[in-house]
Amino acid sequence: MVLSLTTSFVFSQSNSFIPGKQWKDTDGVHINAHGGGVIYDNGTYYWYGEYKTSGRSGNTSLQGISCYSSKDLYNWENEGIVLKVENDLNSEITKGCIIERPKVVFNKKTGKYIMWFHLELKNQGYNAARAAVAVSDSPKGPFVYKKSFRPNKGVWPMDFDDKFKSASIGENRLKSWTPEWLEAIKNGMLVRRDFDKGQMSRDMTVFVDDNDKAYLIHSSEDNLTLHISELTDDYLDFTEKWTRVAPAGHNEAPAIFKKNGIYYMITSGCTGWDPNEARSFRSKSIWGPWESLGNPCVGRDAELTFYSQSTYILPVQGKIDQFIFMADRWKPDNPIDGSYIWLPIKFDKEKPVLNWLGTWNLDVF
Ligand code: DGJ
Repeated sequence: MVLSLTTSFVFSQSNSFIPGKQWKDTDGVHINAHGGGVIYDNGTYYWYGEYKTSGRSGNTSLQGISCYSSKDLYNWENEGIVLKVENDLNSEITKGCIIERPKVVFNKKTGKYIMWFHLELKNQGYNAARAAVAVSDSPKGPFVYKKSFRPNKGVWPMDFDDKFKSASIGENRLKSWTPEWLEAIKNGMLVRRDFDKGQMSRDMTVFVDDNDKAYLIHSSEDNLTLHISELTDDYLDFTEKWTRVAPAGHNEAPAIFKKNGIYYMITSGCTGWDPNEARSFRSKSIWGPWESLGNPCVGRDAELTFYSQSTYILPVQGKIDQFIFMADRWKPDNPIDGSYIWLPIKFDKEKPVLNWLGTWNLDVF
């Protein structure tokens, strides 16, 4: 007994990141926190993610959202399921719904931990396209489910030209992916379609700015356009101030950070669970204009984001302007086998750059 405890302790200590390999928690079990995000709170990092199960159904939520804690980013202790799916079939988060890309932020005004995530109602595929929110008094949970939304119901984006507030004749009949259809998307065809029921929210992240304003950044308009929606001061609702980024650009998996007063965003294209080429953007204001900087990845497999898809960008504590790119290597046939690709973000002048590293540690910063 003593021997096995000692052995597992010795094996579980790590002092480096090995992207794509099994990352074991302090119990020796592969970490189960996919599509995740990390916060730093009172000397501890907390990593929240989708708790996947085995087999094809493992991408639906059968347990909920998991949490791991760490003092050093290498060694993670399992804190359990902090938002549990419910057995009540009438619950929006009933077992078997889809819960993706949870992100937690701390609200200084209310002292609450606020979790946002992408929610799809059970047995409705990806049609509900809702943003959902849960709240906790502690970073370790339990999080209490509050509500889900289609954001920005009945509200036009900022700077939306009056001439685009009504449909142009025949636009609904345009053939998908033709130049005319893409132009109609850019001009807000799907914003108009969803105006009354609220805008779609699928892949998402939450960003808290230096002035404590927070934003939900979400794939909307059938994943064709990203939306940035400002959250209210308690981070539980929307202020109705929102904008569109890269209309018709087909971006998923947004991850964002701020360096020297400039906002940077890394996204992916849209190919389901298959990897594709990442994109990057920068802007002087959260409200844009967002300038496209192209693929941040370089070297072998750069066109497939090293077989991964972005989920979050983590500022490293105690280091100024140093960031870790966090991504998922999905395994849709057996989702619990999905692994994690974390890489340091370097810069080539004003462009973020990601190089593959087989193994690395925080000394690179
Ligand atoms: C890609 C998204 O980024 C994932 O979060 C997930 O929604 C899959 N698509 C589903 O195919």
